[in-house]
Amino acid sequence: MTEQSWRRDFWGLLWESRSGFVPWEKILKLGRSTQEIVEEAFFLEKRGYTLELSPVLGIRLLAPLPDIFCSREWEYRLWISGVPWVTGVAYPVVGSTNEETHRWAEKGAGEGFFVLADAQRQGRGRWGRGWQSPLGLGLYGSILLRPGWEARQATRLAIVATLAAAEAVEETSGQRIDLGWPNDLFLEGRKVGGVLVETRTQGAALQEAVIGLGLNVRQTEEDWDEDLKPVATSLASYVSSPPRRMDLWIAFLHRLYRNYHMDFSLCRARWEARSPMLQRLVRIESPREMFVGMALGLSELGELNVQTVEGRVYSLGPAAVTRVRVTESGI
Ligand code: BTN
Repeated sequence: MTEQSWRRDFWGLLWESRSGFVPWEKILKLGRSTQEIVEEAFFLEKRGYTLELSPVLGIRLLAPLPDIFCSREWEYRLWISGVPWVTGVAYPVVGSTNEETHRWAEKGAGEGFFVLADAQRQGRGRWGRGWQSPLGLGLYGSILLRPGWEARQATRLAIVATLAAAEAVEETSGQRIDLGWPNDLFLEGRKVGGVLVETRTQGAALQEAVIGLGLNVRQTEEDWDEDLKPVATSLASYVSSPPRRMDLWIAFLHRLYRNYHMDFSLCRARWEARSPMLQRLVRIESPREMFVGMALGLSELGELNVQTVEGRVYSLGPAAVTRVRVTESGI
């Protein structure tokens, strides 16, 4: 058993028995000395988990689990759910997790490498907008993918990832999430999260894609800047006990892995089922113009198909559109 895998398996024993004791007999089957096991238990306690060690009964992990990112936990939980993307790094603070992931990619990180942070100094959104990232209140994470797709298929990643994020939030919090094209997550009409896909291409090939996820988890009304107050929300505004960021990230990777390997037409249908804008009038804003049309659905590349009042149908990619909003009035 390798150095890494016995620690992962030890964590697994604690996790699977939840608040119950794992007997020493079972723990010692990991093939490590009592001293090594106790040292590992102390390491986990230092990270913030609460463990109880009993000379007779064994060791148990106590609830509530801390809201921290710990590789011991993600390595086991991702591995056991069949997700091979188990390698990542968690920082207290970074400029932007997307930027940091690009750096790791330059140094040779492989598909599935991820970066998490408790805070971002310069969290970024689409079109140069910022992403408020206060310490511990939101989930800020990015993952590197090397899909080997054609560059023109890149928009599919935003669809696949945004759908995964919505499914993860729903699974962990029970809250229904609607999607806005191409990357917005809405909870009762207010923005609760967003996905930022940044790609590097070589000729017609998609060489590298960094998918960043920002979710507002614990913010309260006072945490928002004035301009965001009417439009932003967090999970804590809807549920008394919002999910741990680790649970959200693991659920996200699980869903992302599945959606990424699924036929895109299935993802597209699931994404469309969560979009309140389809078959409604939308106002499309781009750097050069603004127009109104009927949102028809997604193209097979993940673009938004819109029909103008003159009856012409356009497929719009995210590079051409700064914002899409449902409009009742047609303006
Ligand atoms: C948007 O709605 O415009 C997308 C927001 C994406 C924010 C996340 S937070 C983690 C990752 N790192 C960043 O700098 N941005 C994304």
